[in-house]
Amino acid sequence: MLVDRPLRVSFAGLKLENPLMLASGIVGVTVDTLARAVESGAGAAVSKSIGLEPREGYRNPTVVATDSGLLNAVGLSNPGARVFSEELSEVKGRRLPIIVSIFGGGPTEFGRVTEILDRNEFLAYELNLSCPHVEGVGTEIGHDPEVVASVVKAVRARTQKPIFAKLSANTHRMVDVARGAVDSGANGLTAINTMKAMTIEVETRRPTLSHKFGGLSGSGIRPIAVARIYELYENFKVPIIGCGGVSTWEHAVELILAGAISIEVGTALYEGYGVFNKINRGIEQYMKRKKYRKVQEMVGLGHRF
Ligand SMILES: Cc1cc2nc3c(=O)[nH]c(=O)nc-3n(C[C@H](O)[C@H](O)[C@H](O)COP(=O)(O)O)c2cc1C
Repeated sequence: MLVDRPLRVSFAGLKLENPLMLASGIVGVTVDTLARAVESGAGAAVSKSIGLEPREGYRNPTVVATDSGLLNAVGLSNPGARVFSEELSEVKGRRLPIIVSIFGGGPTEFGRVTEILDRNEFLAYELNLSCPHVEGVGTEIGHDPEVVASVVKAVRARTQKPIFAKLSANTHRMVDVARGAVDSGANGLTAINTMKAMTIEVETRRPTLSHKFGGLSGSGIRPIAVARIYELYENFKVPIIGCGGVSTWEHAVELILAGAISIEVGTALYEGYGVFNKINRGIEQYMKRKKYRKVQEMVGLGHRF
């Protein structure tokens, strides 16, 4: 007999109604936009990455469509930890499943941001160790296992909440970086962030983005995400949140079979918030057809072959 609510997942102390999450940075930084994702069917919503001080980000153009996905260099624009902490204080008692994404220039800054935000009600932290286009806070941190270890330790020392380390696939050292995070107290891993990329307009001969380099997201990076999740699953026992190019239930199931227990949806949201319910319904029907009672039963099944 099939159990009620087969989409419910529990991992790293989180209990979610379904395995889907809004990925970081896709829609605004307000609690209302995060709430809207949850009302539209996401099991949880990850905030835009929050740093210590407010940041304006880069000038336009910051986002451009390519034939393999979206290219963006937004520049981690955010209101800063103090303002976001006030915003978060509004969710008190609303039981909103929010995960807060944070970034910083090193362990001290990550620690400070944690201190400012931690008293609020939210489920967990996601550490953005992987932004491919912001100097000093992205890949310089996320490609170095020792720096990542000290960042995770700094956050761990200041919170009881679960910590997910969001990894960059722009390095061949991803597994070493993940080890640095897990050995230092991360409860789970998120993979992947955008891939470093660029487009150049042939008539003007100029790189399209104002920042020149950006991060590619969407369908073009999904096979990379699948490979990286598969690799992490072979190396670690901690839960993996999969992310990268998911816009259908088949994509979500593919990442689950690679090893993810939860799936973040980013770029596909630009087609509308209806994407969460659409993917959830598809996963549920697949589970019925294959006789799986829980999402957990499907995690990593791609490794049997
Ligand atoms: C416009 C835009 C802004 C983003 N901002 C952030 C961010 O602030 N922090 C972060 O960790 N990831 C950020 N990302 C990366 C996404 O969270 C996600 O990892 C990536 O887009 C891959 O998933 P997708 O293919 O489903 O979009 C951003 C992506 C886009 C397209």
